[in-house]
Amino acid sequence: MSKFLFFSFLAILTLLTSYDFSRPKVNIGHLEVDEWGVEEALIKLGDSAYKHHIADLDSKKAEMGKDLVFNGFTTYNGKKSKRISPYFVCTDCHNTQREFGSERGLGMVHPKDNNPQKRLVYAIKNDLPFLPGSTLWGIYNRTSFYNGDYRKKYDGLVDKAKDDLPEAIQVCSKYCSSGRVLKDWELEAIMHYFKSEELKIKDLGLDANQKKNLLKYQNLDDGEKRGLIYSIKDEYFQSYPANFLYTMPKDKRRYGENGNSENGEELFERSCLHCHGEKRVTYLGLDNSKLTGDFFLKYIEGYKDQSLYQIIRWGTYAKRGRQQYMPQYSKEKMSDDQIEDLIAYMKKLSEK
Ligand code: HEC
Ligand code: HEC
Repeated sequence: MSKFLFFSFLAILTLLTSYDFSRPKVNIGHLEVDEWGVEEALIKLGDSAYKHHIADLDSKKAEMGKDLVFNGFTTYNGKKSKRISPYFVCTDCHNTQREFGSERGLGMVHPKDNNPQKRLVYAIKNDLPFLPGSTLWGIYNRTSFYNGDYRKKYDGLVDKAKDDLPEAIQVCSKYCSSGRVLKDWELEAIMHYFKSEELKIKDLGLDANQKKNLLKYQNLDDGEKRGLIYSIKDEYFQSYPANFLYTMPKDKRRYGENGNSENGEELFERSCLHCHGEKRVTYLGLDNSKLTGDFFLKYIEGYKDQSLYQIIRWGTYAKRGRQQYMPQYSKEKMSDDQIEDLIAYMKKLSEK
């Protein structure tokens, strides 16, 4: 009998401890803070507003800004506006969606875990392209642009843009896009679009306790507020690091040996074919054919632009008369192992 009691007691105890009592209690507060913009939350906790702060979102402007980012033009005063660039749209190089999960564990990625293979896995799962520019998701909540080697190499060009979002957009409209400087209304429209897509608390992986604290932010002392600001900012990239690599030297190359061709196929389709699958962006049409495989394998050994080892790390340059260029992939945007996977896939195509 006492044994039975003991085990029932044990069973109840396990039930009690495994049940998360905190959930229903804070649920209402949860929903409320979930909808707060991250900037709003930071300001409530005593942080200063962004330099590019937008107090009132104008959804009409945001709509036009979205057009500009996706199509390069919009309708302004009843007329079709002039394209930003004859060659590119922003989404040729930038995703606009989340590229990392916010859930921890379960193989999901911390938003700041900048591992290109984990990013690819997330892209496959969510059917996203895999691009050389950083995602524009959460760009409104960033304060540092063209970081790492972009800063080192393009110093003069990005000097004004490094902590100024509107300037960063201008640099990319004129230079990255081989286009032009935006008019004031265009820049404003894009800024309102970015504001409309700003991060909300629900986009971050804060736990129930942190959200509960945020809800009663008025009761927190300065130290607690600072702690919470830190935790919020730790949930997403304040700035995307970038390291440029040299072309892999010949003695380090594996020429696709032990590479994962299935991974390579995903990379090829989500990255290379994003631009090379149609002739809008480039004259070099590529596809999943034997011809494409043979082309890459023919040049793979050297240091020519047609070698995957070379082109991915250096890209190409805009020239007079040929303004389309290929952006390079930093270490964060494609790993050396992934290049080997691509080559393994080219071998597979070549065997067709
Ligand atoms: C041909 C490729 C390309 C095109 C087109 C392009 N960008 Fe970029 N952009 C880049 C690269 C590469 C960077 C370097 C920093 C990064 O994104 O990691 C960058 C950086 C940026 C940044 C700073 C991001 C950061 O976190 O450092 C912004 C903002 C930006 N681009 C906006 C735009 C907008 C808006 C357009 C369209 C008008 C555009 N870009 C078109 C390639 C491109
Ligand atoms: C953002 C668009 C974009 C992406 C993504 C992209 N490319 Fe390119 N690529 C270009 C452009 C533009 C050129 C310049 C050639 C031209 O003028 O058409 C180019 C040039 C090249 C060249 C050199 C061609 C030559 O004859 O000089 C190769 C090889 C190449 N790309 C392969 C790739 C591979 C492999 C990938 C994927 C890892 C890739 N590209 C991803 C736009 C892109």
